[in-house]
Amino acid sequence: HLDIRALYTQTGMFLFDPGFTITGSCASSISYSNAKGKLMYRGYSIEELIDKSSYMEVAFLLLYGDLPNQSELSVFEERIKDEMVVHEKLLDFYKGFTVNAHPMAIMCSVVGALSSFIHNTLDIKDPIQRELSAIKLLGKMPVIAAIAFRTSAGLPIVQPNKKLSYTENFLHMMFSDPMDSSFKVPKIFIEYFEKIFILHADNDQGPSTTAVRIAGSSLANPFASISAGVASLWGPMHGGANEEQLDVFTEIGTIDNIPAFLDQVKRKEKKLMGFGHRIYKNYDPRAKIIKQMCFELFYKLGIQDPLFEIAIKLEEIALKDEYFTKRNLYPNIDFYTGFLLRALQIPRNMFCVIFAITRSLGWIAQWREMMSEPVSRIGRPRQIYVGENLRQFVPIDERK
Ligand code: ACO
Repeated sequence: HLDIRALYTQTGMFLFDPGFTITGSCASSISYSNAKGKLMYRGYSIEELIDKSSYMEVAFLLLYGDLPNQSELSVFEERIKDEMVVHEKLLDFYKGFTVNAHPMAIMCSVVGALSSFIHNTLDIKDPIQRELSAIKLLGKMPVIAAIAFRTSAGLPIVQPNKKLSYTENFLHMMFSDPMDSSFKVPKIFIEYFEKIFILHADNDQGPSTTAVRIAGSSLANPFASISAGVASLWGPMHGGANEEQLDVFTEIGTIDNIPAFLDQVKRKEKKLMGFGHRIYKNYDPRAKIIKQMCFELFYKLGIQDPLFEIAIKLEEIALKDEYFTKRNLYPNIDFYTGFLLRALQIPRNMFCVIFAITRSLGWIAQWREMMSEPVSRIGRPRQIYVGENLRQFVPIDERK
């Protein structure tokens, strides 16, 4: 056991680990994933949770450590529903964006703006208030997201309905027509979204979770810290991959073009979006589940998606190719999610927003875990300085 901190104090030496490939930044008991393709939330396998639990049960599990009993769940759900409102003034923020603003750009700002409504009254040293922040965030994320979608699509806002479940409420706010009260979100949509939400809820210390933890480690407002997570998630190397990935298949166009496309990937002219993962060096267990969900949903809805067929064939070819097998590159959660979301009528620019709503659960659970540690340390990596040595200052009129 090497005491790196003592080593640093004595010698000035520290680890150089760009991209934090071998650095553990915290201890956490929320989610566990490993190279073999295992994912657990609080010790429950993702496969079992998908089959047997609801998103609200998983939310309770991630926040409090155990699955709820029926009365705990009912109280929890009610508390979250009570928070499914946003301050009227927050709605003014949406007016500042151009009509075709990307909903993730809106999310970055509006989630951060929540801090301006809650900051003054929030004492983050108080565990009760930290818990309340989590409930507020979970309640408000789907509302903020649905409004981001509707304003960016030029549609009127739909108010949440307290009679609906969490997931159904989100879909209601996305798709209902305020002038037509007969609209009901199809049951199959709710069923699939429950699973999609569970699958995306948490996964170790991904870039966005790390962003939330680092921002929060300075004792910043939790909503401001969560907006750091939203920003990080948006990138195409992380949660933004599911949006980019459909373009890849559109570009490939036909099964015959797959080998030529893969040659470009192998020459490093392109990246295969939705492939590869820092932790999963076998097969991302979430990708396995989503692929299966695609088959089932397409069968139930009678969908034939030629792009999905290309994806299946591409995976088959790639997994026989040394470039991918040698590097342990397999489909990750984003490889098939776009097909599922598209079949569920979600517009492409909302793919990452869906991820942000559901990952906000993991972010806030991780923030609470960090904040409850007896000794909290600020997240502060080091750098190797590669700039100039000490130079003499030259006054401006003497410079060449
Ligand atoms: N396509 C082609 N080659 C790849 C891919 C890919 N998708 N992913 C990794 N590689 C190659 C790298 O070029 C590297 O090759 P080298 O050994 O010849 O240099 C090797 O595989 C190892 O890759 P790393 O970059 O070291 O893997 P890392 O753990 O740093 O990155 C990441 C993981 C970012 C997910 C990467 O695989 C990637 O860019 N994938 C595509 C984007 C994507 O799908 N992101 C979503 C990830 S899931 C999520 O965040 C929710």
